[in-house]
Amino acid sequence: MEQLLMPSPFVDKFTKKAFVGKALDLGCGQGRNALFLAKQGFSVVGVDKKEASIAFLRDKAKSLDIELFNRNLLDFPIRKEEYDLILGMNVFNMVSKREFEAVVEKIKKGLKKGGIFILSMHNNMDPLYEEIKKECKTKDGQTFWNEKGNKWYFPEPGGLKRLFDDFLIIFYKQIVINDPGHPNKPEPHAHSVERLVVKK
Ligand SMILES: C[S@@+](CC[C@H](N)C(=O)[O-])C[C@H]1O[C@@H](n2cnc3c(N)ncnc32)[C@H](O)[C@@H]1O
Repeated sequence: MEQLLMPSPFVDKFTKKAFVGKALDLGCGQGRNALFLAKQGFSVVGVDKKEASIAFLRDKAKSLDIELFNRNLLDFPIRKEEYDLILGMNVFNMVSKREFEAVVEKIKKGLKKGGIFILSMHNNMDPLYEEIKKECKTKDGQTFWNEKGNKWYFPEPGGLKRLFDDFLIIFYKQIVINDPGHPNKPEPHAHSVERLVVKK
């Protein structure tokens, strides 16, 4: 498999906790996790607002059970008890705190009993937080925006668990990831990330 399309090891590990049924990948990007889930036997729905990513994935997904939507996840309809597994991988820093919490409510309702939600996002210990803080406006120190209308949300370390009081927390950890660099930031750097897996 191309390096780019290797699934997140975190997703690989915790997907095994879910019944192999219907999965939703919110902000699926080029689909490294959506492709992996489909190959594991899930019927996958992928949503991303970036047309080029959906087009790339559509091409890779031809013979697989993956339905794709090029749209904003914030108004994507999630029916009650529709999914066995929902992923929110590295996407929810790009919405406001209020929007994130509203989507979480939809996710919680959209999971079947026993369904699993896997979440990964940068927290406010991440160097990205300091960069965004310098460049953007904020009222609460958690949601930021710029004049182009882009938004960011950085939760406090440990701050996400409270949203899932009524769920079983299978895994929760704040971790530091060493990133060797990428086109946007070529030098090696670290990320501070919240990782959460819950079961309904
Ligand atoms: C960092 S990438 C992560 C992609 C994938 N989840 C992964 O872990 O490989 C974030 C993705 O979220 C998408 N995204 C951000 N905000 C979104 C929104 N409101 N609705 C749909 N997609 C969104 C971006 O277009 C991008 O493809």
